Amino acid sequence: MANLKVNFAGVEFKNPLVLASATPSWDGEGMKIAGLAGIGGVIPKTIGPVQDWAAHPRNGRFHIMRTAGRPMGMVNLELFTTKTRDAWVKEDLLVAKEGGAVIQVSILAMPNPDDTAQLVDEIQATGMVDLFELNVSCPMPAAGVGMHIGKSPELTFKQVKAAKSAAKIPLTVKLTPTVFDMVEVAKAVKEAGAEGISISNSVRSFAGVDIETGLPLLRGYGGYSGPAIKPIVMRHLSEVARAVDLPISAIGGVMSYKEIVEYIMLGATTVQTATAVMWNGYDVIGKWLGDLENWMDKKGYQSLDEIRGIALPYITTTEELAKLPPLFARIDEDKCTNCGICQRVCMYRAISGNGTAYQVNKSDCDGCGACVQWCPSGAVELK
Ligand SMILES: Cc1cc2nc3c(=O)[nH]c(=O)nc-3n(C[C@H](O)[C@H](O)[C@H](O)COP(=O)(O)O)c2cc1C
Repeated sequence: MANLKVNFAGVEFKNPLVLASATPSWDGEGMKIAGLAGIGGVIPKTIGPVQDWAAHPRNGRFHIMRTAGRPMGMVNLELFTTKTRDAWVKEDLLVAKEGGAVIQVSILAMPNPDDTAQLVDEIQATGMVDLFELNVSCPMPAAGVGMHIGKSPELTFKQVKAAKSAAKIPLTVKLTPTVFDMVEVAKAVKEAGAEGISISNSVRSFAGVDIETGLPLLRGYGGYSGPAIKPIVMRHLSEVARAVDLPISAIGGVMSYKEIVEYIMLGATTVQTATAVMWNGYDVIGKWLGDLENWMDKKGYQSLDEIRGIALPYITTTEELAKLPPLFARIDEDKCTNCGICQRVCMYRAISGNGTAYQVNKSDCDGCGACVQWCPSGAVELK
């Protein structure tokens, strides 16, 4: 029977699934619910200072992006925890602990690194924290915090160094995807002595405009999360996993056990979720963990160590890809339903047909594979 246990940054988790720092963990009770549902770890909303700039809008702060009515992502304007440090220390972390999950506390890198170190000190003194996640990645940062720090390897280095000087437990760092090269920042994180990296926070974004009124749907820039950001996260995750030797927690767009597996195959050790819980409730936790275990049993995997990073060696450069032999589309007549979609989506005009039969003209086919992607009956392949 499959064992879901993982060791992340020196801490044992009973499974790789972690409740990300977001609305479902706005208080201890939410974290307890996730814990009782079987989740491996829980992370509260980022704990920072209690100041004006930490207050978030209470006039609607979410916008769900839909395509043909189906949600694909969400923009949010939420900042850090609205609870006081005192409330977390005296009450909410205690309640969270009753859920039985690993407690990884998200703390904000403060404008002055000395204050970051002090925050580490204060929270770890509770004795209720198993490891930290330092937030240098909030996508709507005020007062020089969040991604203002995380976009710079130098500023990130200073913050991690300060936090590490106070931390007696493992410290991981949550990075921003809104950078060109996350590897540079991840290298600074390692050099400063952190034990792990979280990839990543939400993508800085804008929700859109109501075309009837001409007004913005949300009047500020926010964080984009959910399924739409997964390819962005996978890019950063795989680049960092190949270049920096630190355990990684992957985050972004998990909607089933399949994305957990995918992220682990790209090098992650734990996998976090926020938006899926906000859209479907905490019940997804038990469902995904059951599905993950069944999948592992079916595949004959006993431990997630067997699949960690297995996809990475096959990722190659544009130059190497161009050297691979060309492939051409082929239509399997037995499977083809003559819908004509392949012809419509072929921009090379390489597919001809009349509603009753379709053929590929090999000399025109550019091997792009669009027809394979769109064929609803799996009748087209590249060979
Ligand atoms: C409403 C909302 C609030 C969030 N608040 C925080 C936060 O306080 N600290 C933090 O590090 N990340 C925060 N995040 C980012 C999430 O932890 C996560 O990185 C991101 O949403 C991508 O994961 P997902 O696609 O599973 O939601 C928040 C995300 C959402 C949707």
